[in-house]
Amino acid sequence: MRFSSWPVIAYTLTGLVTAVDINWNSDTSIKDGAATIAYGLMKYYSGNNTGDVAGNLPDPYYWWEAGAMFGTMVDYWAYTGDDTYVDVTFQALQHQVGDDDDFMPTNQTLTEGNDDQGFWALSAMTAAEMGFKNPENGTNGVQWLALAQAVFNEYVWRWDNSTCGGGLRWQVFTFNNGYNYKNAVSNGCFFNIAARLARYTGNETYADWAETIYDWMTDVGFIDDEYNVYDGASDTDNCSKIDATQWTYNAGLFMHGAATMWNYTNGTSTEWRDRAQGFVTKSANLFFNNSVMYEPPCEPQDTCRTDQLSFKAFLVRWMAGTAQVMSSTYETIYPLLLASGKAAAEQCDGTATTSDGYKGLEGTACGMHWTQGSMWDGSNGVGQQMAALAAVVYTRVQKAPTPYTSVSGGTSTGDSSGGAAKTDNTVKKNRAITTGDRAGAGILTTFILAGLLGGCGWLLID
Ligand SMILES: *[C@@H]1O[C@H](CO)[C@@H](O)[C@H](O)[C@H]1NC(C)=O
Ligand SMILES: *[C@@H]1O[C@H](CO)[C@@H](O)[C@H](O)[C@H]1NC(C)=O
Ligand SMILES: *[C@@H]1O[C@H](CO)[C@@H](O)[C@H](O)[C@H]1NC(C)=O
Ligand SMILES: *[C@@H]1O[C@H](CO)[C@@H](O)[C@H](O)[C@H]1NC(C)=O
Ligand SMILES: *[C@@H]1O[C@H](CO)[C@@H](O)[C@H](O)[C@H]1NC(C)=O
Ligand SMILES: *[C@@H]1O[C@H](CO)[C@@H](O)[C@H](O)[C@H]1NC(C)=O
Ligand SMILES: *[C@@H]1O[C@H](CO)[C@@H](O)[C@H](O)[C@H]1NC(C)=O
Ligand SMILES: *[C@@H]1O[C@H](CO)[C@@H](O)[C@H](O)[C@H]1NC(C)=O
Ligand SMILES: *[C@@H]1O[C@H](CO)[C@@H](O)[C@H](O)[C@H]1NC(C)=O
Repeated sequence: MRFSSWPVIAYTLTGLVTAVDINWNSDTSIKDGAATIAYGLMKYYSGNNTGDVAGNLPDPYYWWEAGAMFGTMVDYWAYTGDDTYVDVTFQALQHQVGDDDDFMPTNQTLTEGNDDQGFWALSAMTAAEMGFKNPENGTNGVQWLALAQAVFNEYVWRWDNSTCGGGLRWQVFTFNNGYNYKNAVSNGCFFNIAARLARYTGNETYADWAETIYDWMTDVGFIDDEYNVYDGASDTDNCSKIDATQWTYNAGLFMHGAATMWNYTNGTSTEWRDRAQGFVTKSANLFFNNSVMYEPPCEPQDTCRTDQLSFKAFLVRWMAGTAQVMSSTYETIYPLLLASGKAAAEQCDGTATTSDGYKGLEGTACGMHWTQGSMWDGSNGVGQQMAALAAVVYTRVQKAPTPYTSVSGGTSTGDSSGGAAKTDNTVKKNRAITTGDRAGAGILTTFILAGLLGGCGWLLID
C-alpha cells in the first residue's frame, strides 16, 4: 500500500495539512482515519526488526505498554476489519508468553508486576472474545483463553490475606519496588479477567473470585460508595492511608468488569447493574470536560509521565466494552465516546517528524490534550497515538462484533489448570539483581512519582 496517496491526507484552502480529517457520517472515512493513526502507532514498534525482540517496544516504553498496545490492535482488527497488523500482533503476543505460558518471560522479571502481567492477559482475553487468529492446536502457540486462565490462577495463588484483609500486591517479587503497595490496577486486572472468564466459560469459580475481589476493594476503601476508585495504599500500615488519586483506567477496569458480571448473570443481578451504572455515572462526571475525556491527575497540569499518557486508551476501550455487554449504558456512553473520538482525531495533526521519533505520515502525530481541539499540544508517543486510535476506533462500538463466549462462537480452547507458582528463589537463579534493575519496575503510578518528588501528588484520605 502506498500511503503517500491516501485520501485521508486532505489539504485545506489555507494549504495546511489537516492530518486525520474524518467525516464522521462516513464509515469508510472513520476507518481510513483509524488506519492512518494505527499506521503511525505501529511505526513505533521495532520488535519485528531483525535482531530485535518480538513484543517489545523501544525505550522509554515499558513492557506492559506493548502488551496493552497489542490488545488495542486486536480490537482495531475486530472493529475495522483491517487485517494489516494481524500477523505482527499475533507474533508479538505469542512471543511474550514465557516458559510457563503465563506472560512472565524471564527477561521481564525485574520490571513485571501484577498489573504489567495483567495488561498482556487482558489482551489475550480480548483475542479470545473477538475470535482473533488462533494458534493451531499444539503447533504454533498457546491458546488465548489458556493464557488468561493461567494468569488468573497465579493471581489466586498470590492473593494475600496477611495485610489489609486481602488483595493482590502491586509487585509479584519482594525484590521489586512497590512490593508493599496494594493497588487498584493490579486488583482491577484480576477483577476484570475473573469477570470475563466467568462470562466466557460459564464457570462459577471465576464469578466467585470477582465477588471476592470487589468486596475486598470496597472493604479496604479503594472503592467507595460513590464509585470513586482510588489508586492504592501501602500495606505497612494495613492500607489505612489511601492514595486517593483517580486514574481513568482504574475506573474503566471496574466499570467493564461489573457490567460483565451483570451480563454473566443474564441481567438478573441488580447489584452488578447498579455498580456498573455507578461507575459509568461517576466516570462521566470525573473524566470528561464538555464530553471529551481527559486525565485529571496529570493532563491539565501537563505532568503526565510516559505510562500515564496512555491511560485514556483503556477507559475508552472499557466504556465501549461496557456498552456492549450492558446495553442500558449505551445512551450515556456513546455520546462521550463520539465527542472524545472527534476531539482526539483533531489532536492528530502534530508535525512531529522522525527526529522526534514519529515515523507515521507527515502531519498525523497525535497529542494527548483532546480538550484542546486541533491545537496540537506538541507531544507525540505511543501513549498519545494509542489513546487517539482507541478513541476513534471505539466510536464504532455499535457496529463491532460482540464478544464471544464459549457457547456463542468463541473457539479459543482453555486450560483451567495453567500457571506456575513462582517465588523469589526460583527466579533469582536466572540473573543477579542490581540496584539499577530495580529502578524500573512496573507501571508508573503516583506511588513511584510520590517517591521521586518527595510527597507531591499524594492525596491522603483516612
Ligand atoms: C514490522 O511491522 C510494522 C507494522 O506492521 C511494519 O511497518 C514493518 O514494515 C515491519 N517490519 C518488518 C521488518 O517486517
Ligand atoms: C529475552 O532476551 C533475549 C536476549 O535479548 C532474546 O533473545 C529473547 O527473545 C527474549 N525473550 C523474550 C520472551 O522476550
Ligand atoms: C483443539 O483441541 C481441543 C481440545 O483438545 C479441541 O476441543 C478442539 O476442537 C481443537 N481445535 C481444533 C481447531 O482442532
Ligand atoms: C484468603 O482469602 C481468600 C478470599 O477471601 C480465601 O479464599 C482464602 O481461603 C484465604 N486464605 C487464607 C490462608 O486465609
Ligand atoms: C486491616 O485492614 C482490613 C481491611 O480494611 C481490616 O478488615 C482489618 O481489620 C485490618 N486489620 C487490622 C489489624 O487493623
Ligand atoms: C444464564 O442463562 C443461561 C442460558 O439459559 C444459563 O445456562 C446460565 O446458567 C445462566 N447464568 C446464570 C449465572 O444464571
Ligand atoms: C474544561 O474546559 C474549559 C474550556 O476549555 C476550561 O476552561 C476548563 O478549565 C476545563 N475544566 C477542567 C476541569 O479541565
Ligand atoms: C450480554 O452481552 C451480549 C454481547 O453483547 C449480548 O448479546 C447480550 O444481550 C447481553 N446480555 C444481556 C442480559 O443483556
Ligand atoms: C472452573 O475453574 C476452576 C478454577 O480454575 C477449576 O478448578 C475448575 O476445574 C473449573 N471447572 C470446570 C467445570 O471447568
